[in-house]
Amino acid sequence: MNMFKKLAISAVAALALVPAASFAAVEGGHVEDIAFSYEGPFGTFDQNQLQRGLKVYTEVCSACHGLQYVSFRSLAEEGGVGFTEDQVRVYASGFEVYDDELEDFRPAIPSDHFPANTSVGAPDLSLMAKARAGFHGPYGTGLSQLFNGMGGGEYIYSLLTGYTGEEMEQAGTFLYENTAFPSGYISMGPPLSDEQVEFDDGHANDVHNMAEDVAAFLMWTAEPKMMARQHFGFLGVFFLTIFAVLLYLTNKKLWAPIKGKKTAL
Ligand code: HEC
Repeated sequence: MNMFKKLAISAVAALALVPAASFAAVEGGHVEDIAFSYEGPFGTFDQNQLQRGLKVYTEVCSACHGLQYVSFRSLAEEGGVGFTEDQVRVYASGFEVYDDELEDFRPAIPSDHFPANTSVGAPDLSLMAKARAGFHGPYGTGLSQLFNGMGGGEYIYSLLTGYTGEEMEQAGTFLYENTAFPSGYISMGPPLSDEQVEFDDGHANDVHNMAEDVAAFLMWTAEPKMMARQHFGFLGVFFLTIFAVLLYLTNKKLWAPIKGKKTAL
């Protein structure tokens, strides 16, 4: 198959996916739009925010939720949390992982992954920001996604800040009313309270700020290469545009004498 045919087929396939995606979107709870730094074709993760988000995850969420697809080593990656190798080593040693060879637990090292969930019913958070969409309907799945993404970070933020304070007991489990959770009641109690985590950079630590930081961090765990992909995609479109213009001009120039003759005839 030649290159052009392949491109044409993938373009058609990509277009065909658009309506499918908007049908798949189910109307959920209330999700607030946040202007995250990573959004848009020039978006970048905010390193300080990722470090704060990691701290919130470590001190609060890790009590129940795992990050089993994330390696400690990746915390040193460029464009991400930006830890030094030493910081990674010290951070990893704060976790215990099960070693199959030792048949026992030992302190984690940089090449290990974060532990899996520790609480029954708590889902792994590694890919959560990509598994949930905050924006629904034709606008959410349309052009605005190019600039705002799917809203996975927004969904997590809205979930963490969406508790109304109402709770009820159902078949022995407590359920907490939450305006972002699609069914309206979630079995996770409000995990954050004001000033729960002290940030090294002295940043504000009310529930809203902590929620935003941990949501950004979870977007990074779900898509650590997002920045590279966005920038590469933008460059691709940029060069394709230049190519198209050059091709048009070359074409015009090549045909000019022939076309000129025709009109002369
Ligand atoms: C005490 C344990 C516990 C802690 C601490 C906790 N969670 Fe949860 N979390 C749960 C459980 C249990 C569920 C499943 C709730 C359900 O499906 O009803 C859950 C579900 C979630 C979900 C998925 C919601 C969905 O759409 O399915 C997200 C996102 C989440 N938690 C984020 C966090 C974040 C971020 C933190 C830290 C700020 C945190 N959780 C702290 C227990 C916990």
